[in-house]
Amino acid sequence: MKVVEKIKDLKLLVAQAKTAEKKIGFVPTMGALHDGHFSLIKAAKEQTDFVVVSIFVNPTQFGPTEDIDKYPRAFDADTAGCKKFGVDVVFAPMTAEMYPQQNLTWVNVEKLTEPLCGESRSGHFRGVATVCAKLFNIVEPDIVFFGQKDAQQSIVIKQMVADLNMPLKIVVCPTVREPDGLAMSSRNRYLNAGERKDAALIYASLQEAELFIKAGLCKSSELIGEMEKILKLSNRIKIEYISILNCRTLEEIDQAKGKVLIAVAVKLGQGRLIDNIMLDAE
Ligand code: PAJ
Repeated sequence: MKVVEKIKDLKLLVAQAKTAEKKIGFVPTMGALHDGHFSLIKAAKEQTDFVVVSIFVNPTQFGPTEDIDKYPRAFDADTAGCKKFGVDVVFAPMTAEMYPQQNLTWVNVEKLTEPLCGESRSGHFRGVATVCAKLFNIVEPDIVFFGQKDAQQSIVIKQMVADLNMPLKIVVCPTVREPDGLAMSSRNRYLNAGERKDAALIYASLQEAELFIKAGLCKSSELIGEMEKILKLSNRIKIEYISILNCRTLEEIDQAKGKVLIAVAVKLGQGRLIDNIMLDAE
């Protein structure tokens, strides 16, 4: 496995792989890797011949009040994990390599970036879409792997790829969870023992909604009420949003019918945690 910091070195390795007619798989990350990330790498190994993982804590997707310096970093463990899972190249650029000059060109995906995390994290998806566009141009992958955990992110990126005719395919992999249901996240390490225990209520609330939908209760306001009851079992959890939306358009719906996304964001201790489920409610 090679670890490279420079775009030109990465491009050379990818060009060699392409000459050997290898299909390029790409997993963009911000590091502090866990089994959620590794599941994407496993999928990339299965579906492509040459796997590139980027580790880059992208400053343009953090708001002014969000502390990028506090974002967890674990570079040695990350590269060891990548090696274990058979990654071919880790691309770990410095900020100056990715943003060598004042950035004046941005990718703004409209509408889909407005609800959910777009409301509280202004500019976040502009930063995500821009860095993904840059990374896609650098890596030139055939398939890029994203996690369902960040549902809105993968929907936004799919829209960008389609709108801008980017010659690549996006694959979205299922959310990997801890045994108690908590979605794995680099941010879980901010939780103390009590908060960590309460964090399991997030997925429990989503499962509760699914049970109600299966039992025929479809009214979004009632489903949200049931989810709130579960989350309010913890006085540490502060609900940021609970939304029931159309999976494709991300428009809120009154009735959970068709392909539905149920998304939650909460503040818990130092951290902000998100989770979601998608289901077909006929
Ligand atoms: P990061 O939070 O490191 O996540 C990288 C990828 O791992 C994303 O596609 C995310 O959805 C996926 N992922 C995280 N937790 C997961 C879990 N529990 N199960 C399955 N997949 C999971 O998302 C980003 O980085 C950045 O915004 C990035 C796309 C790299 C752009 O900077």
